[in-house]
Amino acid sequence: METPFVFGKIATDKNFTDREQETATLVQHFKSLINTIIISPRRWGKSSLVNKVANIAMEQDDKLRVCHIDLFNVRNEEHFYSLLAQKILSATSSKWDETIDVVKRFFSRLSPKLTIGTDPMNEISVDFEMKEVINNPDEVLDLAEKIAKDKGLKIVICIDEFQNISEFDNPDYFQKKLRSHWQQHQNVAYCLYGSKRHMMLEVFTDSSRPFYKFGNLMFLNKIETPYLVSFFKERFVDTKKDITDEACYMIVNLTDNHPYYAQQLAQLSWLRTKEICTEDVVREAHISLVEQLSLLFVTITENLTNQQLCYLKALCAGEKAISSTETMHRYKISSPTSIARSKNALVKNDILDNKAGEISFQDPIYAYWLKVEYFKLYR
Ligand SMILES: Nc1ncnc2c1ncn2[C@@H]1O[C@H](COP(=O)(O)OP(=O)(O)OP(=O)(O)O)[C@@H](O)[C@H]1O
Ligand SMILES: [Mg+2]
Repeated sequence: METPFVFGKIATDKNFTDREQETATLVQHFKSLINTIIISPRRWGKSSLVNKVANIAMEQDDKLRVCHIDLFNVRNEEHFYSLLAQKILSATSSKWDETIDVVKRFFSRLSPKLTIGTDPMNEISVDFEMKEVINNPDEVLDLAEKIAKDKGLKIVICIDEFQNISEFDNPDYFQKKLRSHWQQHQNVAYCLYGSKRHMMLEVFTDSSRPFYKFGNLMFLNKIETPYLVSFFKERFVDTKKDITDEACYMIVNLTDNHPYYAQQLAQLSWLRTKEICTEDVVREAHISLVEQLSLLFVTITENLTNQQLCYLKALCAGEKAISSTETMHRYKISSPTSIARSKNALVKNDILDNKAGEISFQDPIYAYWLKVEYFKLYR
């Protein structure tokens, strides 16, 4: 049975809503080769947005090529260079002979080893001699610019989980190398994005770091309520079911506009609906979602310190002045330093989000579970 909602995969076509302004801006950036940095917590829709924008921009400009690189499992420079070369070659050459020709022309100091997958749909892979490429990465770093010039193309290189480069050996030196090459490119732009807000901000907004002011910063928000409400309605009606307005708003509220969870809770509600989805159905679906995730939440919670838990309890209870003596006493928080320490650690662990000093939970279902099941603050 085909279900009308998508979560955990890239949202496309009918599954994609909102983001009109971000889409228009980013399409413009891609076509005009403006570097862009996108920051948002996990699962708020970065990949879906970039994917949509890449398709639109390439449709509108047949000289434009976009390549996508994900650094989620890339832990060193050498791996980075291989992936970069591989994705650039795949995005700009359609045939094996063409790839070989490009490699012959644009690599003279490095001798990359090319392997082609057995299945013709498989991408090629590119390997370098580690020492060679680390000492001499210029040819890889300028490959896109050279190909673009040679073939009269424009290239946008999208790099996901970009903050991972801060964990390579010698990160500052590496970043300096990247920046010094990339800022000279005339025919290539970079769209760099990642989900660790604090790390991305460190890389791009600290004036002492190489990537300071590298491009336009874009902070992706959650999806706005009116879009979600009409999106749910449409998907239910398209599949010959219906949903009440109240039930739509309930899904939005329970998931705090979180794109992934909104789709997941809508899906669970849809599965429980015969004809019309009501608030009762959503309530049941929400209970089952919380249950489904509770084991994971227990594990997360077990890894927190007592002081972190005290701070989270105060947050869950909606306390505004947590550092007041009375509140600290009530929640057994030892000192303002402890609050600062807990806050930093929880942001680092992706449990909390710090948006210009405004602290919120990254995961609305975890926030609910903590409040209701763990701290038993409300029923
Ligand atoms: N524009 C959108 N409209 C509707 N749903 C969306 C939209 N963008 C994202 N989603 C929902 O959020 C989920 C996660 O989206 P996506 O993978 O694009 O986010 P991400 O920020 O790249 O996540 P990650 O941090 O895991 O890489 C999608 O599977 C979909 O359920
Ligand atoms: Mg993603």
